[in-house]
Amino acid sequence: MKVVHTVNDLREQVAKWHRDGLTVGFVPTMGNLHDGHLALIDEARKYADRVLASIFVNPMQFGKGEDYANYPRTLERDRQLLETHHASLLFAPGVEEMYPLPLSEQTRVEVPGLSDILCGASRPGHFAGVATIVCKLFNMAQPDVALFGEKDYQQLLVIRQMVRDLAMPVEIISYPTVRESDGLAMSSRNAYLSEDQRRVAPKLHAMLEETQTALMQGNSDFEGLEARAVDVLAVAGFEVDYFSIRDAGTLSIPLAGSDELVILAAARLGSTRLIDNLAVTPG
Ligand code: PAF
Repeated sequence: MKVVHTVNDLREQVAKWHRDGLTVGFVPTMGNLHDGHLALIDEARKYADRVLASIFVNPMQFGKGEDYANYPRTLERDRQLLETHHASLLFAPGVEEMYPLPLSEQTRVEVPGLSDILCGASRPGHFAGVATIVCKLFNMAQPDVALFGEKDYQQLLVIRQMVRDLAMPVEIISYPTVRESDGLAMSSRNAYLSEDQRRVAPKLHAMLEETQTALMQGNSDFEGLEARAVDVLAVAGFEVDYFSIRDAGTLSIPLAGSDELVILAAARLGSTRLIDNLAVTPG
């Protein structure tokens, strides 16, 4: 697997593949790869002739006081994992390559509405940071398809809307959340959890499952279910940011009778913020 660090080298390789009639599947990441990322790499190989991964810890999507400085950077280990999973090319740019100007002078991509609720309400500017970097990466790499995990469900919808609104010629494929055997969604941030917190962490998924079951059995008291989940999680030791039943397509508050729902949750254990979600089709 080749590793490139500059936009010129990336473009040269992808242009060559395209000239040769080969399609390119892209998996953007911030590194510290786990089985969830590697499942995306494996899946990308089903959609495209060549698989490109990127590793870039994007400062624009971290707020003040968040973990940008401490975010795990494990490039050599990640490179080996990508090689084992037969990725064709790794793009690992430095910050100056992606943002030659100070961030305050950088053009931003804003996806209105979706970016301001749920995680966007607690992390102002986060989704503009995600949309901007993904837009830049798409422009640099010109992939035919790009793959994103469903764990970051709101991020997935933000990216789909950006691609639709800006008529970007890339197909977005989503892939189900990969979980530990006890249900905890895989995330690079799980490494921050202490042993005690790690024992408690799967309760977030368990609560999503309990709520999913209630909805599927016809309980439509959304507010009651949300309030109960917040209480149970608080007793277990979580500081709940939100636990919310939403329309799966728009993330708006569902109308009575909505049948494509998603339950989304974000909660802290100590300073570690965990997110997760489950889809549900009531009835
Ligand atoms: O999901 C992530 O790891 C990041 O938000 C992404 C999509 C790579 C953009 O930095």
